[in-house]
Amino acid sequence: MKIIPGPASRDLGLKISDILGVSAVPVDFKRFPDGESYLRFTEEIRGEDVAIVQTTGPPQDSNFLQLLLLTDAAKDLGAKSVVAVVPYVAYGRQEKRFRPGEAISANTVFKLLSDVGVDSLITVDFHSPDLLKSSDIRFENVSAMPSLASFMRTQYNLDGAFSLAPDDGAIEFVKATSKILKGDYGWLEKTRDKVTGEVAFELKALNVKGKDAVVFDDIISSGSTMIHAVRTLREMRARRIYAACVHSLLMGDAKERILKEGALEIIGTDAVQSPVSVVSVAPLIAGILKKWYV
Ligand code: R5P
Repeated sequence: MKIIPGPASRDLGLKISDILGVSAVPVDFKRFPDGESYLRFTEEIRGEDVAIVQTTGPPQDSNFLQLLLLTDAAKDLGAKSVVAVVPYVAYGRQEKRFRPGEAISANTVFKLLSDVGVDSLITVDFHSPDLLKSSDIRFENVSAMPSLASFMRTQYNLDGAFSLAPDDGAIEFVKATSKILKGDYGWLEKTRDKVTGEVAFELKALNVKGKDAVVFDDIISSGSTMIHAVRTLREMRARRIYAACVHSLLMGDAKERILKEGALEIIGTDAVQSPVSVVSVAPLIAGILKKWYV
């Protein structure tokens, strides 16, 4: 098998190829003056199983289109099969019609991946895992939550720390992390306004007074959810507070606002490259590729 590190995940692709000991095919990438992408495989891929590593975090539209272009070209150039390694799947949060007339963007994303010839898909903590099951593409959705928890435990000596899910969608995450941190877990009740996107939280008592605590979430985008969770922990007198997430999109000044709210550190992964990407998802992805191909 050959690894193709796409423009959005060059370092991650190289790490995966290093772990597997298989070659990485560099992609020539440039932008035309009008913003369109130019992509070229620099080596022969005919007859090969290829894994295209391309996350689709911001700028989502451009990164996603590059993934489609690379996959379509790989098939056209005679690749035997294409695994799309897409740690962060753009539009994954719009998996249903919340208001009449809305585009169900996640469905469109999956239709397009299938149309261009993706045979298999590897994602990391995909926001709407049920959607994967209804697609005709073979998939594996790995979780980086245990890796985040293990890192936090050893790096910050967080044995016994409380794991907090900022909403009920993250409960499964904290069930897993609490086993690693060997502490309790809990969650907040969050609602999001369907028109403005504003989040609101119900007041909830948590047994965190004097304890270290980590908020675990799949995504930090605007930061509103994480800020509220950190604030809640602070108001309930938690001791040291940390923020951990897999996909740290950290739009605008989200990072500064979360730290200002009282988080000592924000720890993310390289599923989306950001200033807080300290934990790598490469070993998890390499493990799946090894199981399938090597
Ligand atoms: C939502 O269900 C997700 O799990 C995250 O909590 C959310 O996407 C974070 O978004 P933001 O940072 O904009 O609050």
